[in-house]
Amino acid sequence: MEDIDLAKQILKQYHQEHLWNFWEELTEEEKHSLVSQILSIDFAQILQLYNHSKIDEVISPHDLSALPYTDKEELSSSEINSFEKIGNAAISKGKVAMVTLAGGQGTRLGYKGPKGTFELDLKPKKSLFEIICDNLKEINDTMQTTIPWYIMTSIYNDEATKLFFQQKNYFGYPKDAIFFFSQSELPIIDTNGNLVLEETFKIKEASNGNGDVFSALAKAGYLSSMERQGIEWVFFAGIDNVLLKGVDPLLLGLTIQNGHLTASKTLRKENPDDKDWIFASKKGKPSIVDCCYLTEEMKTQIDASTGHDCFRDINVLSHLFHISALEQLAKDTLPYHRAFKKNTFVNEEGMKQVPEKPNTFKFENFIFDAFAFFPSIQLLRIKREDEFAPIKDFNGPYNPEVATILYEKVKLHREHVDEEKD
Ligand code: UTP
Repeated sequence: MEDIDLAKQILKQYHQEHLWNFWEELTEEEKHSLVSQILSIDFAQILQLYNHSKIDEVISPHDLSALPYTDKEELSSSEINSFEKIGNAAISKGKVAMVTLAGGQGTRLGYKGPKGTFELDLKPKKSLFEIICDNLKEINDTMQTTIPWYIMTSIYNDEATKLFFQQKNYFGYPKDAIFFFSQSELPIIDTNGNLVLEETFKIKEASNGNGDVFSALAKAGYLSSMERQGIEWVFFAGIDNVLLKGVDPLLLGLTIQNGHLTASKTLRKENPDDKDWIFASKKGKPSIVDCCYLTEEMKTQIDASTGHDCFRDINVLSHLFHISALEQLAKDTLPYHRAFKKNTFVNEEGMKQVPEKPNTFKFENFIFDAFAFFPSIQLLRIKREDEFAPIKDFNGPYNPEVATILYEKVKLHREHVDEEKD
């Protein structure tokens, strides 16, 4: 009873009484579920985010300067070998872990089920999770180790993801080296500042972005267990790039050698007018920024001393952090970004409505905002044809068919290189 009164009071305080509209029609179980959800939501936070996010950040081109990067193509094979040696030493001593960011909803792909369970049309079929696992197994075999593999899920796919791994017998990876943890979510909000209902008894929430990974790791107790195990470096990568080497001895070796706490792989933007956000130093801090803040000249600017592009490197969601950086990030708060998205909702009559246009704001924090907490970053520019084939949707350039062709091509090439090494 007390909880019901408290829930009603909260809704009144934050002008969200419409969420109670169907109370009289709900079953006891539904009432209980709605009340506990209301009590679990931080209404002050979400409304503050909504109000604050109406003010867009203003970045002047003067705030931006180039971030140095290492171009893999410019390294000699002996340089590559010596950096890889440093990275491999850390891997074989058990100092490295991998985190896969798999909490997204994959709305663009529109595939039913966790995106990591999406299968490429290979013989035999292979899921995105299995492809990541193959990479890890390969390094484990070479380095005679077992890299602990942490997988971030969300409320929407946690159960289904775990079940999939069980059904696939963990793809032969040591089960006790795989750790699942779930990220948090936040309510979505309409253009009038109202939270919306997903069901008559349920407020619509969505995962709060891949930047939640630091606090989610800490909450699950995995940051402290990593420390106890002697993990010093943690790689982070998304779920959908079928060519990515998530754990990369070269990136690790470069980062250790050059004394950075964070690192990231980059790719040269093919067309300077493409909309992809770019790496830059923003007010002196390593960042990834919207290219709309660049002037026309900046888009193609070259650093005269290095001959490198200044503002043309894009993010491929392949990052590396030192464990001390993760501890700091678990305590810090990353900024939230606002996205305007289409979301089905329950209308005043209790009917589900599928909007034709974006109708609601979603708030997410991005893992790359973590870079700004550190003075420097190691960037490694890789080649598109070697390591970039993401799957985003069925109709755009990053579709499953293209990714499958590129995967088969690169796999054949990598096998050929390995044979030559033997
Ligand atoms: P995307 O930006 O591609 O988002 O995520 P998405 O949710 O997968 O797909 P769309 O935009 O709805 O179509 C990049 C990576 O970050 C993870 C995703 O799982 C993917 O690996 N991610 C995204 C999370 O782990 N949590 C989130 O809240 C969002």
